[in-house]
Amino acid sequence: MSSDQREAQQETTTTTTTTVDGSGTTAMRATTFSSQRLRINPNNEHRPESYEDLKLDFPSAVYSSLEKYLPQQILASDREEKVKFMTDIMLRHLPHGERSRAHRHSVYRQKIITNYQPLHKELYTLSPVDCFVPSFMKAINESSEKSFRSIISEPSPGVFVFDMLLPSFCEMMLAEVENFEKWVGETKFRIMRPNTMNKYGAVLDDFGLDSMLDKLMESYIRPITKVFFSDVGGATLDSHHGFVVEYGKDRDLDLGFHVDDSEVTLNVCLGNQFVGGELFFRGTRCERHVNTTTKSDEIYDYSHVPGQAVLHRGRHRHGARATTSGHRVNMLLWCRSSVFRELKSHQKEFSSWCGECFCEKKEEKGRALDALRKKLVKAVRAPQD
Ligand SMILES: [Fe+2]
Ligand SMILES: [Zn+2]
Repeated sequence: MSSDQREAQQETTTTTTTTVDGSGTTAMRATTFSSQRLRINPNNEHRPESYEDLKLDFPSAVYSSLEKYLPQQILASDREEKVKFMTDIMLRHLPHGERSRAHRHSVYRQKIITNYQPLHKELYTLSPVDCFVPSFMKAINESSEKSFRSIISEPSPGVFVFDMLLPSFCEMMLAEVENFEKWVGETKFRIMRPNTMNKYGAVLDDFGLDSMLDKLMESYIRPITKVFFSDVGGATLDSHHGFVVEYGKDRDLDLGFHVDDSEVTLNVCLGNQFVGGELFFRGTRCERHVNTTTKSDEIYDYSHVPGQAVLHRGRHRHGARATTSGHRVNMLLWCRSSVFRELKSHQKEFSSWCGECFCEKKEEKGRALDALRKKLVKAVRAPQD
């Protein structure tokens, strides 16, 4: 077994509000809320309400996108009732203690936002022409599989690569991150790192970039994931975890083999000069098969190019090789779908995208066909025997 194939870890945030994990959550789900379920097939005729004016436990977009999955009797009730029903459902995904943690996190975020002075204010509202390369803008405006295919390559199944960010935007982002790190150093403010595997880097959502990244996900990533990742909730992405990671001397060196706590991950290199740091992919796996061996056609290594984006399923096992010299900064957006997570928790079969499940099913089909063939041969021969 190569060093890439050690057990895949689950890369998680310590502060997320949507982790589906832990037996505690499952037990609670079975006893308290068994009658409260979303519909499996959405009511696409329904026009969702806006929840932006309310003070809510979760992003307002999550409520709007969940609405068409509500059972008919709840769908017909008033907004307050709907909010209560949806909040209850979403809270089921929070392990014990996570609620107060979520509250503490919002206080933490507020403390940063009121004290940190941004360097480039223009970064905080998404201005597409200042952010994206023209080819990307054109494809998004046309918003068809054909237009996406014209700018996106798929060098390995499930790994999509395309030019996305302008060099000037990457520079601004790098400068903003550096400015934030400088503020952290000067004020000795203890910040939370992006996840359990990176000691360096910063959570962009924590210092004011969350609404900009929300817009980025909704208007520029979701149209793409709707086409290429519909099997993992690509059409219903409604929350994100946005951060930068830093590699090189005095930073993180490499990143072990893992899967992300996301439905779809966007990974864009911001720069700068560096050697190494390749991203290695080793096939997509469900929870049950996360540590099964890699097949030769699942091996793919990608070398980062500043401004270029990689889009892959969170369950696509991957890691980063050592950045041997220079300094590399990547921006990550873990995109999540509350609808997908809710449906997945009610359905056993939900992993058409898992390489191993796929093989198991194929073998099973082969065995069934074999049995049928034998039976037929026997039936045909029977009269002559
Ligand atoms: Fe990752
Ligand atoms: Zn599987």
